[in-house]
Amino acid sequence: MIFLDLIVGARPNFMKIAPVIREIERRAREGMVISYRLVHTGQHYDRNMSGSFFEELGIPEPDVNLNVGSGTQAEQTAGIMTGYERLLMEKKPDLCIVVGDVTSTMACAIAAKKLLVPVAHVEGGIRSGDMTMPEEINRIVTDSITDYFFTTSETANQNLRNSGVKDNRIFFVGNTMIDTLLASRPRFVKPEIWDNLGLGPGKYVVLTLHRPNNVDDPANLKHLLEEIIRESNGLPVIFPVHPRTRKVMQGIGLEGGSALHLADPMGYLQFNYLVERALAVITDSGGITEETTVMGVPCMTLRNSTERPETVTIGTNELLGTDPEAIAPAMQRLLSGNWKKGSIPPLWDGHTAERIINIIAGLI
Ligand code: UD1
Repeated sequence: MIFLDLIVGARPNFMKIAPVIREIERRAREGMVISYRLVHTGQHYDRNMSGSFFEELGIPEPDVNLNVGSGTQAEQTAGIMTGYERLLMEKKPDLCIVVGDVTSTMACAIAAKKLLVPVAHVEGGIRSGDMTMPEEINRIVTDSITDYFFTTSETANQNLRNSGVKDNRIFFVGNTMIDTLLASRPRFVKPEIWDNLGLGPGKYVVLTLHRPNNVDDPANLKHLLEEIIRESNGLPVIFPVHPRTRKVMQGIGLEGGSALHLADPMGYLQFNYLVERALAVITDSGGITEETTVMGVPCMTLRNSTERPETVTIGTNELLGTDPEAIAPAMQRLLSGNWKKGSIPPLWDGHTAERIINIIAGLI
């Protein structure tokens, strides 16, 4: 019997775990003796940051919710570790599977490893090199104690080798987030804003911003938004606002303008309906750069580094940095039809979860 703990906590985790759950359930129906316990740390807890994703992606109710809620990085880490440790002391899995790079990923990996439970990291090995990002610290700490790495790219493999990981613990399997994207694409749902604003394919831009570097300083956020509005040539800019960003927006008195349309965070199927048809996406997210690459949508990333370099070297993504002045030349290139076309990175084919479960079956 293989018994796995699957850890989720924050929005980008849900799309990464959904195909793994689906594959475990499919294999169990075929007779494989495998089961899991789905642990939600509660790092994200609003319906529009968490609950709606479970429904849309067909993820079952978590077996356990640690309900950690909001807090500082240390408060969340401590709350998740103590909650998960208690659970592990009741019952230990054969393997703890963590995904991505959020606080929940790191905290559960540490709690498991200290109780001698082996850890597998889905999306292991990626690095931005930017130690001001909490996610980079989470990646490095998690990978320093991970037993088995499921990687999305050759760059990730090389990062792990450079830090001394032997090849027999690195499994280049592709990208479970893209499994979810490809499985969901036929089911994308038109959001209300489409008809309300009379949007049309290629006639608007999608914007998301939530990184502390971009949003925590109100003056900087305001400058960024003003620049994006000015350079978009009157095209509507649809901005589903992350809760972290919303708090800052309230203080800067910029509650929408002629071209900027604020929205609540959207469900996965609605958000990607908008992305698939957008002229371009402007973002500081990492996951969205992968999704735009696969859907062939031009993407401008407002960061100085990326842990997903293949979205730039192979895909449609370009790093603009965090200086608002970089937006104008990029928008001009986009509007004159000169954005690169891009192609899809190796193994981002929709079958990553199958590969992961095959490998786990051989490991345990
Ligand atoms: C986290 C992840 C980041 C990921 C992002 C996606 C870490 C270190 N960061 O950042 O990698 O890209 O999620 O969303 O784990 N809040 C709500 N409702 C919620 C969740 C959060 O209002 O459901 C509020 C919190 O109280 C906090 C703010 O939003 O004030 C930020 O949430 P937090 O979980 O600290 O990190 P994110 O910035 O969302």
